[in-house]
Amino acid sequence: MTGPRVPPDPGSFPHTRLRRNRRSDWSRRLVAEHRLSVDDLIWPVFVQEGQKSRTAVPSMPGVERLSVDLAVEAIAEAAELGIPAVAVFPATDPARKTDDAREAINPENLVCRAVRAIKQARLDIGVICDVALDPYTSHGHDGLLRAGSVVNDETLEVLKKQAVVQARAGCDVIAPSDMMDGRVRAVRTALDEAGFANVQILSYAAKYASAFYGPFRDAVGSAASLGTGDKRTYQMDPANGDEALREVALDIAEGADMVMVKPGMPYLDVIYRVKEAFGMPTFAYQVSGEFAMISAAAQNGWLSREKAILESLLAFKRAGADGILTYFAVEAAKLLRAG
Ligand code: PBG
Repeated sequence: MTGPRVPPDPGSFPHTRLRRNRRSDWSRRLVAEHRLSVDDLIWPVFVQEGQKSRTAVPSMPGVERLSVDLAVEAIAEAAELGIPAVAVFPATDPARKTDDAREAINPENLVCRAVRAIKQARLDIGVICDVALDPYTSHGHDGLLRAGSVVNDETLEVLKKQAVVQARAGCDVIAPSDMMDGRVRAVRTALDEAGFANVQILSYAAKYASAFYGPFRDAVGSAASLGTGDKRTYQMDPANGDEALREVALDIAEGADMVMVKPGMPYLDVIYRVKEAFGMPTFAYQVSGEFAMISAAAQNGWLSREKAILESLLAFKRAGADGILTYFAVEAAKLLRAG
């Protein structure tokens, strides 16, 4: 990805014919610069209370919230397909949401029970959990609210406890997704002090205040809590690219092991710049709204679903991503296996 790719004298037609390399399948395979593999995929999974229960997410056709027992079965299939990691998101009972988000630090909360169950199944798959308060706040914000503002430093104290509770449940990777300042260092220090020096941190380093999270908020029930509110005082302005590099630089300095850009496809330029600038393990999140767009167009017969899925995921690799969080992970893994 570095250095000039085009020689000073690129030659010219008719000696140079770029179509020559594209003539046959073997040749196209031979010159392909990037390749999508199952090892690039992280599967986000929504969990809900109950037993043997599943609930469709209407704005994400084909995606369901699963009770923990069914989630473990689904994740076992993902592991069998070779998917390296899952990200578990809880749909918290609204009765458990409070303005202080105390359910976030309850070791018996839904996400902790899910993580313990996945770990007990001894699957060869990594488990990632968000650290952020939005599944647990009555107002739907990622931090604590004081006089109408999301407060930073006070929120960090809860995030630290949440990270430790999740690590204790067996979570392999903590993914701070709240965009508070200083959260990576706070979480790293808390994990180290609690004896979890080996728990990795995947930071949602450049996370934009995006309209493309809509279906996710339906899935976990935070849309109703947030109402007409928005997250623009902590998530990034879609107008900014340089600022994303500053966010990433800080998170690396604070101890992030891996960084993420989110959403995905509208921010491929940011992924490219982040990978170029830092060379860190860099992940893209193909978010719920991106999933919904491709699914809806395919349902209408306006796109070839399989081709659009694989092309969208390959685009992340071309932009420099090492991996992609995608709701298509299981489907894509099957497509890749089928060849
Ligand atoms: C929570 C969180 C969100 C997503 C991942 N973690 C939503 C938000 O910030 O409102 C979005 C994922 C998606 O849209 O698929 N902080």
